Amino acid sequence: MIGVFDSGSGGLTILKTLTERLPDQDFLYFGDHGNAPYGHRSNEQIVELTKTGVTQLMDAGCTLVILACNTAAAIALRSLQENWLPTHFPENRILGVLVPMVEAITGVPWSQQNSSPIGSGERILLLATQKTVASDAYPQEVAKRAPQVELIQKACPGLVDAIEGGAGPAPLQGLINGFISEIDTGGITKAVLGCTHFPLIEDYFRTALANDISILSQPQIVANALVDYLDRHKQYAKAGSGQAGSGRVSLMTTGEPEAVNAVSRRFVDEQIKFIAADQQ
Ligand code: DGL
Repeated sequence: MIGVFDSGSGGLTILKTLTERLPDQDFLYFGDHGNAPYGHRSNEQIVELTKTGVTQLMDAGCTLVILACNTAAAIALRSLQENWLPTHFPENRILGVLVPMVEAITGVPWSQQNSSPIGSGERILLLATQKTVASDAYPQEVAKRAPQVELIQKACPGLVDAIEGGAGPAPLQGLINGFISEIDTGGITKAVLGCTHFPLIEDYFRTALANDISILSQPQIVANALVDYLDRHKQYAKAGSGQAGSGRVSLMTTGEPEAVNAVSRRFVDEQIKFIAADQQ
């Protein structure tokens, strides 16, 4: 079974694409709605909360967990992979969303650092949470692989709170227009929605951005990377019995399930049904 972790409902954008691409796999989703948003928490809190969620997913039988949360991936992934997983679940694996996104932005494989610049310089816009922007994880990793790319970061404070709080179209569009109006968008060719919550409201970004700026789709890019990973690591593509899964998708939340369902159903075109994480 594959675990998908997010601070709230944002990772549902990734889960939806994963279930479409891998219909035979079993998935268990963990939304930490009770502690969201992560975007303005301390690094220590983000590491601890991520560890707690991943533990719950692995205790429930997930051998592979995707941190479908840019903030958790930028702040906690490396620490969990290096300092925690080897002593707690040595056979299991944790992957993040940052690696496939950096590969997509640069066109350079993750393993290929300090490569000679390919192509001409491009201006690319990264829209993310305050915490992801402050970590500088994206610009640092992009610079190692494609120093000719100019990555312009823009934090979008309050946007995750507004989505999780069920804000209506006008306030959401107003917030996004405000963020975009603060950027010099001249020469920008691509925008990366570097927070899994943002594809839920991609249309609002599309309205605010000039037509010649394309939006890089994080769910598709992450799903392609997972399909590729499972091809190379077939042991994680199997259920505990050694058989492929049955396509079962379960969702748990640390928040109040009915409120979480209401918000999630508004943004994701599915019959979402979360249950309380402590009842899993
Ligand atoms: N959805 C998460 C991300 O991709 C984090 C949002 C939050 O909790 O602030 O960054």
